[in-house]
Amino acid sequence: MVRLPAFPMPYTFARSKTLYERATRSIAAGVNSGIRKMEAPVPLYFARGSGADLWDVDGNHYLDFQMGQGALFYGHAPAGMADAIAAQARLGTHWAAQCELEIEVAERVQAMIPSAELVRFNNSATEVVTAAFRLARAHTGRPLILKFEGHYHGWADEGLVGFANPADKWGDDENPARLHPSKGVIPEVLEQFVVARWNDPEHLRRRVDQFRGKIAAIVFEPALCNTCCIEPVAGLMSTIRELCDRDGMLMISDETITGFRFGASCAQGYYGYRPDLTVLGKAVGGGTPFAALAGTRAAMAKILSGEVVHAGTLNGNPLCLAASKWSLDQVLALGASHPAGIQKLGARLMAGLGDLAKEFGVPMRPQGPGLVFHAVILKPGAPEGMIRDYRDYVRRHDGARWMHLRRCLLEEGVRAIERGLWTISLAHRPENIDEALVRARRGFERHAATWVPQA
Ligand SMILES: Cc1ncc(COP(=O)(O)O)c(C=O)c1O
Repeated sequence: MVRLPAFPMPYTFARSKTLYERATRSIAAGVNSGIRKMEAPVPLYFARGSGADLWDVDGNHYLDFQMGQGALFYGHAPAGMADAIAAQARLGTHWAAQCELEIEVAERVQAMIPSAELVRFNNSATEVVTAAFRLARAHTGRPLILKFEGHYHGWADEGLVGFANPADKWGDDENPARLHPSKGVIPEVLEQFVVARWNDPEHLRRRVDQFRGKIAAIVFEPALCNTCCIEPVAGLMSTIRELCDRDGMLMISDETITGFRFGASCAQGYYGYRPDLTVLGKAVGGGTPFAALAGTRAAMAKILSGEVVHAGTLNGNPLCLAASKWSLDQVLALGASHPAGIQKLGARLMAGLGDLAKEFGVPMRPQGPGLVFHAVILKPGAPEGMIRDYRDYVRRHDGARWMHLRRCLLEEGVRAIERGLWTISLAHRPENIDEALVRARRGFERHAATWVPQA
């Protein structure tokens, strides 16, 4: 049963606007993470969430597909997790020492991911990426990390190289430039990277051969979710594994988004490959500041020996561990039904959005495996077909049109990630998808009536 409230006007955001203005007087630029400023017409302020439902301070209700940038894989405020955190808070919020919970969480990760012979915990995936790169350099005695254009590995100096290369500076197809989107980065950091194009195994071979003997690791998002949503072509993962084995490089799977979403054994189980190191974030902590580095015993050796420093006051924080243990138990309880259950819901939403796009003449082509997907909107005259890599996305996706559509959807109570990604959680139900599509129809209608193509 669709619970559509009878509102004649799209949502308005007066209280969020007032709070944002107030925030700009005490918080730098009014937000605590740069991309939150992307939300139009104003960065929203939220009051509460439950399952797939979210309410802002103006009383607007959303069917949420932003889901805390995908971290809320178990929905908003699941009661079991709240109880687990509250119970732990009464015992202690932080010890900076050992507790049995950390072993219980580590054992769960180990049981689910075959390549996770050992783990270490951190508070963000950005930190875990830093640890993985350091470990790879120490393991091989080599300086370079090979990463792919458009892939995001956290906001530190190292994670952002080659992430958002502007088209006029990105270099030729064979030699993607190592650029950085931020000022203030240590210049020498850029020299420690080789950037390659995603989804071209033969190009990758040539790129590795060009720097052979100097590359410590190849890092990647298994399904690229930070630029469009681009699954690996057949043969890409096996090529990475083969090259890593041939040259003694480490294969680093950054599963911050795909981890546990793509199944209990993550994207590495879904696509069938075995990395040396895995970065886990988001779903591993269910929306608490928790992340993990997992790896084979051989790849983790320099942490075992103490030659690589890995530290953090809040590592293995018991509140996060309580949330993580509860979260991982949800995944374990799904057994073989995961990830097919949420994939079906995602496919239903993708198909429904695709139908609406057709009906209203919007060239939107939802792309992705359903567990997560991206709303690609083709630029006028752009050819059809799946987006294949970062350059293809920049050339064909109409970002301005998406932002207009996103705002129309938001004003009707359907919320996607600002850059165009949609995530499904274990809390979404078929009726949430149906309700979202009823609301989205009005959003598409208004978008089609008000969108003015950019010159
Ligand atoms: C693939 C990937 N790696 C690393 C990160 C960094 O995670 P965090 O924001 O927890 O530092 C993200 C964040 O979105 C991510 O998507």
